[in-house]
Amino acid sequence: MVSDTPTDLTRLVAPIAVEFAAVDRRLREELRSQEPFIGDLLAEVAALGGKRLRTVVLLLAARASGPVSASHVDAAVAVEMVHTASLLHDDVIDAATMRRGRPTLNSRHHPSVPVLLGDHLFSRAFSLIARLPRRDAAVWLSDAASLLCQGEVLQNHYRARWDLTEAQYFDIISKKTALLFAEAARLGPALAGAAEPCALAFRRFGMGFGDAFQIIDDCLDLVGDEAAVGKTLGTDLAGGKATLPIILLLARLDGPDRDFVRSLLAGEAADPTGGGRLRDLLLRHGVIEAARDHARRRLDEAYGALEPLGDFPTRANFLMLRDLALGRDR
Ligand code: IPE
Ligand code: IPE
Ligand code: MG
Ligand code: MG
Repeated sequence: MVSDTPTDLTRLVAPIAVEFAAVDRRLREELRSQEPFIGDLLAEVAALGGKRLRTVVLLLAARASGPVSASHVDAAVAVEMVHTASLLHDDVIDAATMRRGRPTLNSRHHPSVPVLLGDHLFSRAFSLIARLPRRDAAVWLSDAASLLCQGEVLQNHYRARWDLTEAQYFDIISKKTALLFAEAARLGPALAGAAEPCALAFRRFGMGFGDAFQIIDDCLDLVGDEAAVGKTLGTDLAGGKATLPIILLLARLDGPDRDFVRSLLAGEAADPTGGGRLRDLLLRHGVIEAARDHARRRLDEAYGALEPLGDFPTRANFLMLRDLALGRDR
């Protein structure tokens, strides 16, 4: 699920292979209901799969600092449920028709279905994590979920704003994406009984990694290949969201070209994707590469946070994640 080539995935998850497989099994168990109709809908959610990257981060951080236990599997299941709930809601907001290579629930059902199933998943996640031996785990996950929702609200509040600043963009992505990676990374060592500085180092790693992951996602939304990515692309601009490449582009443009990009954000263009003209501007002004440079810098900071830990058992696996984040096409 993390990669196309089984060898890459096998190497990445080798130290956590048993627990990684257990997370998938446990997730399928959680996505059940006594009510056959709801059970069918939850099976649809389960069939979506996903890369399970937050699980990989959580389990590799756990193995880095101590023994991996059933608590880690439960914590990863809870994190994946929060993540999936956010995607069910996000696809309604973005009117997306494809997710993880399959039709979205909102494209097949009344919006009440993904909205309420998302709520159901959030609730199941908090119930599961509240039963773990570390009581603050539930606080961390709840706070991350709350800020994730606030990040999404902020992003929608700023729709069609061509004057969105880089600082506002980074605030949004740290809330909507990075924090969940950060708490996944902290849960690993925290549940393995590691000292707080170690857990906080991994948390800082997750913040930087999550920011970089969302920046690359935002580049893919503009120039990615929909079939490879497996989800509807172009929804950011269509929804009036100024992401980092667009913010960088607007700062480099003037005259009719700037008016053109502003009209895309305002939803006033005939072709909401901007077509070849947008692609040409993005390339000519090098803003995809400039955004990727931002992602590289955030990754440098993420890996810098792990430096004080010296050589830990899953260090090589963490380094694989860097290439995966930067090189991904899905
Ligand atoms: C998608 O996350 C949402 C973002 C934060 C960009 P992933 O790319 O990790 O989604 P799945 O779980 O693999 O589908
Ligand atoms: C939202 O960002 C991700 C969440 C945290 C819910 P996007 O809208 O960019 O996510 P995708 O591209 O649909 O996966
Ligand atoms: Mg979306
Ligand atoms: Mg996206």
